[in-house]
Amino acid sequence: MKVFHAQSQLKQHLQPFLQAKQTTGFVPTMGAIHKGHLSLLQQAMNENDVIVMSIFVNPTQFNNAEDLEKYPRTLQKDLELIEALSNKIIVYAPTVDDIYEGNTVAQNFDYDGLDNEMEGANRPGHFNGVGTIVKKLFEIVQPTKAYFGEKDFQQLQIIRKMVEKNNMKIDVVGCPIFREANGLAMSSRNERLSVQAKDKAAFIYKTLQAAKDLFIEKDVKDAQAFVKTAFESETDFTLEYFIIADEASLKTAIVKEKNKNYRAFIVVHIEGVRLIDNITLN
Ligand code: PAJ
Repeated sequence: MKVFHAQSQLKQHLQPFLQAKQTTGFVPTMGAIHKGHLSLLQQAMNENDVIVMSIFVNPTQFNNAEDLEKYPRTLQKDLELIEALSNKIIVYAPTVDDIYEGNTVAQNFDYDGLDNEMEGANRPGHFNGVGTIVKKLFEIVQPTKAYFGEKDFQQLQIIRKMVEKNNMKIDVVGCPIFREANGLAMSSRNERLSVQAKDKAAFIYKTLQAAKDLFIEKDVKDAQAFVKTAFESETDFTLEYFIIADEASLKTAIVKEKNKNYRAFIVVHIEGVRLIDNITLN
């Protein structure tokens, strides 16, 4: 398996494939690889000639120095997991300097307000950091298709907007949320949960599914009241938010309108761990 730490060497390696018009599938990650990341890789492998995965903990998308420092860095283990899937995957694991070239700052992006909702509302600058790194990575890798998880649905929509506004010829592919057998969305944060909490956390997806059934029959406020009540009786959890939003604008919905696609978004805390999930409502 090829692993590059320098963008110059990666570009040199990719050049012949680009010239031969081979398709490149790209999966950007911050490492601490789990089965959710591997499901993106598998989809990329099914659809492209050349596969690149990046592993880089991006400092400009963290608004808290302690979070950045604490973020798990497990490169050797990550490489073993990737190699077990395929030894043809090309990994780019740069240093901060290699990718930021001495200027570790986020560029400002106009996402038409997508960044003002949900995950963006409480994390100023977060999505500018994400846009900055993803744009740099796209310029280096020049992928045909890039794969992002619906787990971070707002991020997926923001990347689509960034690609559109910068006229980049990249097909941004949204991939389904990969879940544990009990329905809990895979995340590196799940490792911090006790066995009991992991079992209990099945409740999150169950509640989302029940809210979806209710929303189809009734309306936004009914689904909201249902979820609020459901979590009030589950004292191990703290509900941070449950929002039903329009998929395109991410604006919070008040009442159901025809010809719109809706999605429900949830953030819940258990054992001090912040868990995020969402479900399509159409
Ligand atoms: P990271 O959190 O490592 O996630 C990398 C990709 O894996 C994202 O597209 C995320 O949505 C996807 N992913 C995570 N868990 C998943 C699951 N259970 N099912 C499906 N996909 C899942 O997101 C980032 O890194 C960074 O912000 C990045 C885009 C790499 C920019 O730094």
